Amino acid sequence: MRITRIGSLVDGFTVQSSLKNPLRDSNVDCSGVHEKCRLMTRISAVSTQKPQILAIIGQGYVGLPLAMAAVDAGWTVVGVDNFASKVAQISGGVSPVEDVSDAQLKAALSSGSYKATTEISDIANASVIAICVPTPVDDKREPDLGLLRSAAFGIAPFIANETLVISESTSYPGTLRNVIVPTINSAKPTTSPKIYFASAPERVNPGDPVWNQRNTPRLVGAIDSESQSRAIAFYESICDAVVSVSTPEVAEAAKLLENTFRLINIALVLEFNQICSTAGIDVHEVIDAASTKPYGYMPFRPGVGVGGHCIPVDPLYLTWWARQHGGRAELVESADSVSHKMPRYVAQRAIDLVPSSSVNPKVLILGVAYKPGVSDVRESPVSELRDHLLSLGANVAWHDPLVQTWEDSKSVDLDWQCDVAVLAVKQPGMNFQQLTARGVEILDCTNTMKGCAGVTPL
Ligand SMILES: NC(=O)c1ccc[n+]([C@@H]2O[C@H](COP(=O)([O-])OP(=O)(O)OC[C@H]3O[C@@H](n4cnc5c(N)ncnc54)[C@H](O)[C@@H]3O)[C@@H](O)[C@H]2O)c1
Repeated sequence: MRITRIGSLVDGFTVQSSLKNPLRDSNVDCSGVHEKCRLMTRISAVSTQKPQILAIIGQGYVGLPLAMAAVDAGWTVVGVDNFASKVAQISGGVSPVEDVSDAQLKAALSSGSYKATTEISDIANASVIAICVPTPVDDKREPDLGLLRSAAFGIAPFIANETLVISESTSYPGTLRNVIVPTINSAKPTTSPKIYFASAPERVNPGDPVWNQRNTPRLVGAIDSESQSRAIAFYESICDAVVSVSTPEVAEAAKLLENTFRLINIALVLEFNQICSTAGIDVHEVIDAASTKPYGYMPFRPGVGVGGHCIPVDPLYLTWWARQHGGRAELVESADSVSHKMPRYVAQRAIDLVPSSSVNPKVLILGVAYKPGVSDVRESPVSELRDHLLSLGANVAWHDPLVQTWEDSKSVDLDWQCDVAVLAVKQPGMNFQQLTARGVEILDCTNTMKGCAGVTPL
């Protein structure tokens, strides 16, 4: 295992990280007695005084996979969520997220190592509490920490002494130190004088077949050396690689940098797509060509826009944070603006394909989730696409095999009579043959139907 250091000293504590290549070393220490011993040693390093119970606040795309990873590592996990019907679903063995199978969930439930609950007081015996609640933006597109504050406030009265509290939620630098720590310290029991705090922003990419909780290196930054060593021990029990940074603010800022990097590059390629299309050049051939450069270039692909809970949202935490410090993240603001113009461009391209004989154009949108292989529709750019199509006078329906209802409407079958279809997201199980067979023109925003008859690339 390669040992690396990032950052300097925390509170006099030497910060180290144990990094190994997760692909190269994927067969090392991953099964058998030795691995079990290693995990139990790590778990007991978190706390020798308390039962090895992990409480997770929020059982969504981040919290539930974390729960399963921790169960695999030997933890007993209490998954708290204030959405009662989600808790009932999970308790019935039906996973609400793609990255956790029903079989995995049922095994964890029946082993007694995992339970889901709405009862916040169930965290009282935990040695570690991980906060995994949403951090959206408000109507002004500024950070809304309401759920995070209420989670911190909710757990505070039940936190036992010497518990490690970790925030995995994405937020601006200073959130752990200036929001979570004071909230918990102001409402914790008098019998709990010492609570440990760390930030370890989740980097999971739902639906990713390669990178997961275990093999994605985890950033950890804590408020003092004891918190840091406990948080590192916790993540070493569930992750192959832990990267220790000098402060929670570095971990929080790194997460914003990662997702803002994606937004800016996606916005660049969205803009580039429009320029290439006007000039009659295949943007994907250009991207493939640029990708042959062995260094300094990373390919991003154009589509309807930027979606999901993270990429359109997290950069707004950065722009807000910059303003708090008297600065302005101009490039980020511009990327945000460019990405929001793309759905309008796609809508116009679709309308341009409608035969001039059609008085009331009918447009069928294929795929409404924010990316292939998931049912998650949060911040999907397809929402803006639909609004623009409607404002251009189109009659709009949509089809998505993974999404039954969306924005007060239902998925239609592919036999819905339309003039044009927009392939926004290619979901597994989509079959376009009946559309092309009846001569429906398809605007392909996914570059998955290249060269097919009746298909126009974006
Ligand atoms: N989804 C991703 O791909 C992803 C990736 C990396 C980081 N993140 C970050 O992780 C955090 C969680 O995101 P998510 O996608 O898991 O959200 P989610 O909406 O899928 O799940 C969050 C859960 O928290 C519950 N919840 C909210 N407030 C609560 C409270 N006070 N007590 C108990 N439960 C509460 C909600 O009911 C919900 O089930 C966010 O900060 C997000 O930015 C998400």
